Amino acid sequence: MFITLEGPDGSGKTTQIGLLREALVAAGYHPLLTREPGGTAIGDQIRAILHNVSNTEMVPTAEILLYSASRAQLVAELVRPALAAGRIVLCDRFADSTMAYQGYGRGLDIKVLRTITAFATAGLKPDLTLLLDVPAAVGLSRRKVGGAEWNRMDQQALEFHRWTREGYQSLAAAEPQRWRLIDAAGPVEEVAAAVWSAVSAVLHERGMEPGGCTNG
Ligand code: TMP
Repeated sequence: MFITLEGPDGSGKTTQIGLLREALVAAGYHPLLTREPGGTAIGDQIRAILHNVSNTEMVPTAEILLYSASRAQLVAELVRPALAAGRIVLCDRFADSTMAYQGYGRGLDIKVLRTITAFATAGLKPDLTLLLDVPAAVGLSRRKVGGAEWNRMDQQALEFHRWTREGYQSLAAAEPQRWRLIDAAGPVEEVAAAVWSAVSAVLHERGMEPGGCTNG
């Protein structure tokens, strides 16, 4: 089972995916946790280029191809082998980030983005995607300007982040069977409880109890 976490910058995805991993381990699963961009040695080098705040001249087409190159490497090197071994894979961002940020945020053609994404992933799609939803201004206020996590995308105007959030909401509305919307504005423990409730319900629905299925 392939589970992705999506959301605007500062929505708390990285904290929540770590807590979700711990909850899955406590429940007896053996999940693989990874992230985008990055997750592999090659992907982490691409991440450094993408996040470098000095790369102000990067054109949107180069940006999308770099995200896609990192994704192609992650899928082939880590995600597909882990899924084939019957593991749950947790990914902090995946292709929906491209649709939300490059599609809705930058205004690139979504159809073209879908074609590039299908090529990069060889058609792999998440089974479940959690949208940690938070207003753009709240998310950005949680990021410290110039702090360790501050990156090239954080520097975009507030309007860009608003379009991105609206993009996520449209993507979720278009595929309700895959997406679960989580209100991420509240305290960490409340959000973690909502995340666990959504994930455990889907695992239960699919009969994927630990030890009772191949998804250990
Ligand atoms: P993060 O690892 O702190 O979430 O930062 C990743 C940044 O890259 C974030 O601002 C979202 C952005 N991003 C895209 O614009 N497109 C993508 O396809 C991905 C995976 C991330």
